[in-house]
Amino acid sequence: MAEDLIIISSSDKTEQYTSLIPQIEALLQGEPDLVANLANICAALKEQFKWLWVGFYLVKNGELVLGPFQGPVACTRIAKGKGVCGGAWEQAKTLVVPDVDAFPGHIACSSASRSEIVLPLFHNNRVVGVLDADSEHLAGFDETDARYLERIIGFINFNE
Ligand code: SME
Repeated sequence: MAEDLIIISSSDKTEQYTSLIPQIEALLQGEPDLVANLANICAALKEQFKWLWVGFYLVKNGELVLGPFQGPVACTRIAKGKGVCGGAWEQAKTLVVPDVDAFPGHIACSSASRSEIVLPLFHNNRVVGVLDADSEHLAGFDETDARYLERIIGFINFNE
């Protein structure tokens, strides 16, 4: 496996995801370790999109606990239903938040975050974690991100 990621300079999201997705799939291919794979997904997304923060929270003993991420230090534990992450977990659906200040209960891990997307991770029909990405720009995420990120998290194998 080549560890070098090809990063494209296009500002078109579809082109960026189209370039990145096969590379992420190749990175995960044949590697069963969950943490290693989550770490590489974060790194690849951060390199291509330069988001403020991207990372995983995993459900442990009834709360979300910080997992592999790229970006500034973040809150370590989030309760079910709290913030965007806890909301995506409770509702078991992707939440796109164009303006975090307009989201009641948003947990501000970084004051620089202006918009956010959180996708639940499913295993055996249960939410076992979330993928969270934060942007310094308003409306940094939309349905295009939701669609492609859903494809990326579909590569994750939770049966280590
Ligand atoms: N803003 C998130 C908390 C996690 S950080 O953004 C890394 C939330 O409201 O759930």
